[in-house]
Amino acid sequence: MSAPADLRRTDRQLLDRVEALLGNLPRTRVVRLPHPGIRLYAKMESENRAGSSKDRAAIWILREAVRRGEITRSTTVVESSSGNFALALAHFLNELGVPFVPVLDPNVNAATERTLRRLCARVEKVTEPDGTGGYLLSRLARVADLRAELADVYWPNQYANPDGARGHYELTAPELLDDIGRIDYLFVGVGTGATINGLSRRLGEVHPEAAVVAVDVEGSAIFGAPPARRRIPGIGSSIRPPLIDDAWITKVVVQSELDEVAGCRALLSSHGIYAGGSTGCVYAAITRHFEGHTGPEPVVAFLCADSGEPYADTVYSDEWVAEHLTPVATKGA
Ligand SMILES: Cc1ncc(COP(=O)(O)O)c(C=O)c1O
Repeated sequence: MSAPADLRRTDRQLLDRVEALLGNLPRTRVVRLPHPGIRLYAKMESENRAGSSKDRAAIWILREAVRRGEITRSTTVVESSSGNFALALAHFLNELGVPFVPVLDPNVNAATERTLRRLCARVEKVTEPDGTGGYLLSRLARVADLRAELADVYWPNQYANPDGARGHYELTAPELLDDIGRIDYLFVGVGTGATINGLSRRLGEVHPEAAVVAVDVEGSAIFGAPPARRRIPGIGSSIRPPLIDDAWITKVVVQSELDEVAGCRALLSSHGIYAGGSTGCVYAAITRHFEGHTGPEPVVAFLCADSGEPYADTVYSDEWVAEHLTPVATKGA
């Protein structure tokens, strides 16, 4: 999105390679989870190559940018990410031989940062929180510096790039709908809004009667609350991303980071699924929403957006939770 589209610049070999990557994405499994009162399905996005749902957004953005001549082999890609989008870009761009500079912040998981440092020759990490208590604006300022510093640069701008949402519309949603059939409720964690934008628009075309529940976290400004400090990467944002405006959302649920922790642990103990914080938040929202539900069993779907492994020392560590997410600390931040 940094350079104007110039189809004359399109690198045909690179386009073939990115098309091949797109054509060979793994089809992630949909699993049925026994749950009282509902028919619950989870799509295991942690089975993607870079380990999260962000692969679908990343590959669609890259393919479109290569097609438009905005990325060639002399381009450097720069992007702000708290983790998974950077991992997805790093994996794909490494295969394409295109340099990538991720801009991270202190909330990044240690394992994610290690992988990124292995895959990328240069990694930028901001240390100063912005005025909102988060780091997004600091990361975006560093991206702006890099765009000024580097000669041929492409910035995917995941918070506003409709191609990211298109990836979920074209890739994730059809798989989900093919595997489940009818969906009555879709619960989606929200960060940039790409996932909920793509999934909800596709679902709305096929099942307009379905409910789409957006799941956000306290301290996030996505749905109008003032931004405040958050510790767990994944969902939430210190800005309202424009991709939210075209999403089809019937209800918003906002939960605490302690709910994320509780949801992760419940998902692990009830279903043996070791998932990241955003998935725990979504699972906690589903459990709460359908507590005591009687009558016909609705079909409820959600994504397991990433694995719990990178969160072993945070969300799954009692010490970390006690130190960083005590109710007092959470409320006062
Ligand atoms: C684990 C996880 N869950 C949920 C999300 C939110 O997805 P989106 O940015 O498409 O709203 C992200 C985004 O990075 C994520 O990494």
